[in-house]
Amino acid sequence: MNQERCAIGVIGMAVMGQNLALNIARKGFSTAVFNRTTAVTEKFHQERVQGEPVFPAKTMEEFVALLEPPRKVLLMVKAGEAVDAFIGKLILLLQKGDLLIDAGNSHFTDTDRRIAEAEKQGFLFLGTGVSGGEAGALHGPSIMPGGHERGYLLAGPILEQAAAQVDGGACCAYLGPRSAGHFVKMVHNGIEYAFMQALAEGYDLLHKVGGISTSRCADIFGEWNTRENLASYLTEITAAVLSHHDEDTGKPLVELILDQAEQKGTGKWTTQTALDLGVPTPLINQAVMARSLSSYSGKRKSLSSLYPTPLPVSNDSPDKDELIKDLEQALFLAQVCAFSEGFQLLESASGEFGYGLDLSTVARIWKGGCIIRSALLPHIEHAYSKLHPPLLLADPVLVPRIREALPPLRKVVALAAHHGVPVPCLGAALFSLDSWGAGILPTNLIQAQRDYFGAHTFRRRDKEGVFHEQWEKGDAQ
Ligand SMILES: NC(=O)c1ccc[n+]([C@@H]2O[C@H](COP(=O)([O-])OP(=O)(O)OC[C@H]3O[C@@H](n4cnc5c(N)ncnc54)[C@H](OP(=O)(O)O)[C@@H]3O)[C@@H](O)[C@H]2O)c1
Repeated sequence: MNQERCAIGVIGMAVMGQNLALNIARKGFSTAVFNRTTAVTEKFHQERVQGEPVFPAKTMEEFVALLEPPRKVLLMVKAGEAVDAFIGKLILLLQKGDLLIDAGNSHFTDTDRRIAEAEKQGFLFLGTGVSGGEAGALHGPSIMPGGHERGYLLAGPILEQAAAQVDGGACCAYLGPRSAGHFVKMVHNGIEYAFMQALAEGYDLLHKVGGISTSRCADIFGEWNTRENLASYLTEITAAVLSHHDEDTGKPLVELILDQAEQKGTGKWTTQTALDLGVPTPLINQAVMARSLSSYSGKRKSLSSLYPTPLPVSNDSPDKDELIKDLEQALFLAQVCAFSEGFQLLESASGEFGYGLDLSTVARIWKGGCIIRSALLPHIEHAYSKLHPPLLLADPVLVPRIREALPPLRKVVALAAHHGVPVPCLGAALFSLDSWGAGILPTNLIQAQRDYFGAHTFRRRDKEGVFHEQWEKGDAQ
């Protein structure tokens, strides 16, 4: 293939970078590629490039020379130091007006810093979330760019063609200034954590309380995936995972996998940011904590003999069909609550950081390609484009469905508690819904306690103003 000036360059030839580069090249955009370790680029070019306009470079100088000005460089490398290291090298080689796209999972505050630095040097910068895993990167991910809008004018046409296409539209849109794109991707991952944990809790209940085999659980998740309540990529892959058997033992592979969930940090960042912004995200928090707790396998093992399961399954098994029906509704509500938390966090951050996010657009570009794509998203897109409910939970179309699903969720959480099966996310969904809907919460007592020991004052239901009470009247005299 003749060498030509490339429309874009991709740095980072691990799984995501390779697949995204191939995807972009297959859309007809010539693509230069570079990796810190040259052998990785060479292997990729030899083994995976089959006539696509992909041009490998051995050095950064060679890579930059391959690019058509204004140059567009997409970084798909490990978040953190690697991104700064590459930016440091690139700004010595690029020219003013060239565009840097950080498409990894960078923390949004790093992106703000990098955008400010790029601006000083005269470069354009897009902090861009990419979701869909390796298959999404190859066949069409959901792409969440934010930063310099002029940068999006340069790279948007390429990114939009590489993105998943749903209902004739690309799952890619300019989301807002500064770190808007990486913030949206972070929240996407937080929602992902919550829904994954809820699905795992559903499997645990079917298995341990319902006494249902893993293979049958796979069928149940497969059936759920065909229905409006739960149709989603995560439900689909849960069915696929549960039906997968280990070649050596013939057992369902999931039963042989250690129950210690790892994390790269995006869920934790979502929780940390929600705490900073004062937005309640109990499901996401519980999902992060559940992974953390799972990693303490030794301590869990020693405690499991101290606290045996309250009720063995055989003593008190529920009706299986009823459990399956109730769980479908409970998992639907967990999904609604997770999305509601995520969108509330996005709305709050949009105001706080001036992102100007269009929540309907966020829902639209999550409809295809990404890990949290779900039958619920077209509805969320519609809700935020037309009605803009104060909370997703208050959306008039969802309210009847939430009301219908609430009693089954209550039953499921009670059943789990009865049998000693931990359901932190399903529990958080129930307690969160109960808290939002309670009308009056016991936080009046907390205000009184605060005032008692710290003179923090309180407001009253029956009078305007701020009050402090002499709680210990005898002592005060
Ligand atoms: N994997 C996924 O499903 C997924 C999904 C969405 C987003 N992401 C994000 O996309 C980015 C890429 O993910 P990935 O899984 O493909 O790869 P990764 O394992 O996160 O990163 C590996 C890549 O980063 C390079 N790298 C690591 N440390 C470096 C350093 N100090 N200096 C220069 N280069 C360095 C590696 O180069 P060498 O080959 O030389 O080591 C390799 O190209 C990450 O930010 C990730 O969080 C991943």
